[in-house]
Amino acid sequence: MHKKALELMDSLPENQKNQVQVFFDKYYPTKEQHYWSVTKLFAHAMYIPMFLQIGLHNVAKGKFSKLVYIDTHSGPGLAKIGGDERDIVLGSALLALHWPRVVASQVPQFKNIARGFDELHFIELSWRNTNILRKFVNSFTHVKVYTDDANRSLPRIPVDERALVYLFVDPYGELDSQLSYDALSSFVARHRADIMMSVFASHLARGFSSISRIDLLKERVERIFGPGFCTSTCPGAQLLCSIGAATRDAVLEAFKCLLRKLGYQKVVDIPVRFEKGILYYMVLATKGSGGWIDGYIDYISNKAPKDYETLKKLWLRATGRLVGLDNFF
Ligand SMILES: C[S@@+](CC[C@H](N)C(=O)[O-])C[C@H]1O[C@@H](n2cnc3c(N)ncnc32)[C@H](O)[C@@H]1O
Repeated sequence: MHKKALELMDSLPENQKNQVQVFFDKYYPTKEQHYWSVTKLFAHAMYIPMFLQIGLHNVAKGKFSKLVYIDTHSGPGLAKIGGDERDIVLGSALLALHWPRVVASQVPQFKNIARGFDELHFIELSWRNTNILRKFVNSFTHVKVYTDDANRSLPRIPVDERALVYLFVDPYGELDSQLSYDALSSFVARHRADIMMSVFASHLARGFSSISRIDLLKERVERIFGPGFCTSTCPGAQLLCSIGAATRDAVLEAFKCLLRKLGYQKVVDIPVRFEKGILYYMVLATKGSGGWIDGYIDYISNKAPKDYETLKKLWLRATGRLVGLDNFF
């Protein structure tokens, strides 16, 4: 995925390479955060093969018509790891496109998923990012890229109502970028979708706490968590709807309550830690049942590298820059 990312980056003209750097500077501001984005992409990359395999089984049984991937905040298609300019990998959207073939060719029990998703829809607000993303996917007729606000596009995306959807939502921690309750609820009312969402709870708590007018605060909170949230019994509702009181835990609980309200019984969070605390959570909501989801959560929670040095070591090894233990000391 690193080699493929470099190949794609090298195919861009200078001005677009610079635009990718501008995106990296904004969304991967510190060196530590680069390494931590491995965890997000790891959780995503491990979910894709399982979703496809179980999905294919259900398509064969006639339960669903097809398997569809939607990325609501897809960025330009590349993600940053490590401190070096060339330390890049495929971002969420391109992972969803290319990863199934890689897994199928290397893991015998997943060889049936090589074809990947039947359709992929990538939504991204910035036209600079979508111009780049379109270049990367223009030879794939089953991929569609939308330059739009996900809140406008998601409810309108032409997806078969009998499809099984994997919805990846990665808006970072700005209040304005979040998916609104209206967009999410109208989509999941019409489609069967598993949702993987990054929740930058501390960033969002700071955003809510900086709003000093109660009417504006309630309006912003309910835009994301739905009408009536402030007077609901959802954990976190009281704190989020009081001036200057929002906390990280209240934000996380509010998202989980929202997803349960939308009909998801299985809602789990995977904290992504860095040395100063929790950077963000990956929240998974699924209507699927069975041991495989528990197995996945267990795998992600226990096998995902947990400390900064291990992540860094893995990355350097993957990029051939760690040849022996001596390099470490
Ligand atoms: C954290 S980045 C996404 C990274 C990407 N998922 C990856 O793994 O490479 C968030 C992206 O969301 C985009 N964005 C912000 N608000 C948006 C909105 N309302 N609708 C769609 N995209 C939005 C930003 O331009 C940015 O590219």
